[in-house]
Amino acid sequence: MKDPKRFLEEAVPKVRSQVPEPKRAIVAASGGIDSTVAAVVVARAIGDRATALFVDNGLLRKGEIERTEEVLSGAGVKHRVVPAAPRFFSALKGVADPERKRKIVGETFVRVFEEEAKALQADYLVQGTIAPDWIESGGSLRDTIKTHHNVGGLPADMHLKVVEPLRDLYKDEVRALARHLNVPQPERQPFPGPGLAVRVVGEVTPERTETTRVACAVVEEEVERAVSEGKIPRPWQYFASLLPVRTVGVIGDARTYGDAVSVRIVESIDAMTATSLAVPTEVLRRISERITRELSGKVTRVLYDVTDKPPATIEWE
Ligand code: XMP
Repeated sequence: MKDPKRFLEEAVPKVRSQVPEPKRAIVAASGGIDSTVAAVVVARAIGDRATALFVDNGLLRKGEIERTEEVLSGAGVKHRVVPAAPRFFSALKGVADPERKRKIVGETFVRVFEEEAKALQADYLVQGTIAPDWIESGGSLRDTIKTHHNVGGLPADMHLKVVEPLRDLYKDEVRALARHLNVPQPERQPFPGPGLAVRVVGEVTPERTETTRVACAVVEEEVERAVSEGKIPRPWQYFASLLPVRTVGVIGDARTYGDAVSVRIVESIDAMTATSLAVPTEVLRRISERITRELSGKVTRVLYDVTDKPPATIEWE
């Protein structure tokens, strides 16, 4: 791997030549480590000719807007939060197919970015795409495993020119770069571009997304607690997915009929392969107990996904 300092020595002038003076760029900032590092690299290269846009698509993790604003401000990146949740939910209405969902989220992002770019008079779109994103999105002889939203979702008629400064890097390299650039929480788990849309298996509604958000927050909190207590190593990724299955439960002596949630905790080096983590039962029981309590009457069953990648992928969709 290239050392972060040397990577920057090449990447910064490259971005400067890709976005020549006095042109402007917008940066698709998701709050994740990849796009945050991309935003910092681009801000170093072209300063406030770049504006990072953080789109509130309604598919974000709990507390994510506040956290991202803090990180971007701390890194000195000019940014703006774009409220767009109703637009994403209406575009996703009635759609259950995973690839269509991914394309819709990607396209809606692009339309929002195009409008914002017009307002800011920007011609360039910077994305935090890294190597596994485009490798798994297919192209040449590769099969499309899934269309990563920051790659395959781009419509052919998009007017913005794409700049991807981290395109050849793997996650561990991005993390090394984040440490070098003092971006907080470089070990933070990845979060997919289409957000909770790929964790709400089946149709995405505001209600099902909220259920998934609460379940994901419980998994994050409990896994982080288990890591800090030395019960498990820090996993690559840990989250919940809401399944399109209804299942019978009982509260007191009343019957309930609710949803099923799958918990996934995996180890990986670069997301190309992954292993389901053997988590102590007490940690899993606590997760299950909290999810069914905090989503009482809504979620009646919690399952642990023991499948490795391959044959499964990390996300359910
Ligand atoms: P899968 O589910 O394909 O995921 O095993 C591999 C890694 O990529 C994340 N992921 C995405 N990241 N855009 C992204 O930026 C996407 O569309 C996307 N889909 C999946 C996933 O969370 C895992 O870390």
